[in-house]
Amino acid sequence: MLTLSAVTKRYATGDLALNDIHLSLPRGQVMALIGPSGAGKSTLIRCVNRLVEPSGGSIHLEDTELTGLSSGRLRQARRAMAMIFQEYALVDRLTVMENVLSGRLGYVGFWRSFLRRYPKTDVIEAFRLLERVGLGHALDKRADALSGGQRQRVGIARALLQDPRLLLVDEPTASLDPKTSRQIMRLIRELCAERDLAAIINIHDVSLARQFADRIVGLRGGEIVFDGKPGELNAEILTTIYGEEDWSNEEGEEDADDAMQVTPAPALAMGGGR
Ligand SMILES: Nc1ncnc2c1ncn2[C@@H]1O[C@H](COP(=O)(O)OP(=O)(O)O)[C@@H](O)[C@H]1O
Ligand SMILES: [Mg+2]
Repeated sequence: MLTLSAVTKRYATGDLALNDIHLSLPRGQVMALIGPSGAGKSTLIRCVNRLVEPSGGSIHLEDTELTGLSSGRLRQARRAMAMIFQEYALVDRLTVMENVLSGRLGYVGFWRSFLRRYPKTDVIEAFRLLERVGLGHALDKRADALSGGQRQRVGIARALLQDPRLLLVDEPTASLDPKTSRQIMRLIRELCAERDLAAIINIHDVSLARQFADRIVGLRGGEIVFDGKPGELNAEILTTIYGEEDWSNEEGEEDADDAMQVTPAPALAMGGGR
């Protein structure tokens, strides 16, 4: 459903963030994109929804070529791709419900959403989604009164209200504790299965990627250095992706509760870690 062909991104600073990326994501597949800080993970998903303009190559979402769409057509195409951010990007002074409804911005138009008037069907669907993500009791809470995990649940409900076919998820667990991280990854995983959604999840925690993705793509220095099943990821491949490190505890890890957080050694992190 999503195809990247020869995608390259060179920033104005001269950094080659992506180099000749070829990637094809079938419908319903949950793919984890792993790699050290600066590998190009954020750049890749931002090229897909064109928050970042690729320097070369083409990207197709089903039959639509995303690269080169005019802004009007792009807005339309973006509805099919919902983004979930690390920082949740909620409006603190608005309620949980209002934050979720803002996911319909692309549909209801600026003035209507500015006036906070949403069609009844949207409100009903938002309510249903908030129940599904476990926040049915917190509809009227202000976003700034929520925990990190709850904020991410709001972000997920908001993304789903857009009724997307593809989820673009950038480090969803970066600010969460290990237990909450697993809960959030499990929720994303389940929702993808329920709604037949494809997802690209940028995540640097290898254990989480292994546990919750159908497929793992490893990025290093803007190039794909691994593309395979979670079970195929071994110490040697992890060394290729992240550089020298002792991966012996990681290999074949089964017990999620002992999952260790894997952070690339600072010396190997390329670039600024955005
Ligand atoms: N807005 C930007 N301007 C210039 N260089 C950038 C910008 N964003 C990212 N980069 C560079 O592109 C490379 C990839 O960054 P990024 O996609 O953020 O990697 P990751 O998400 O894997 O940490 C890094 O070298 C980074 O410094
Ligand atoms: Mg990033």
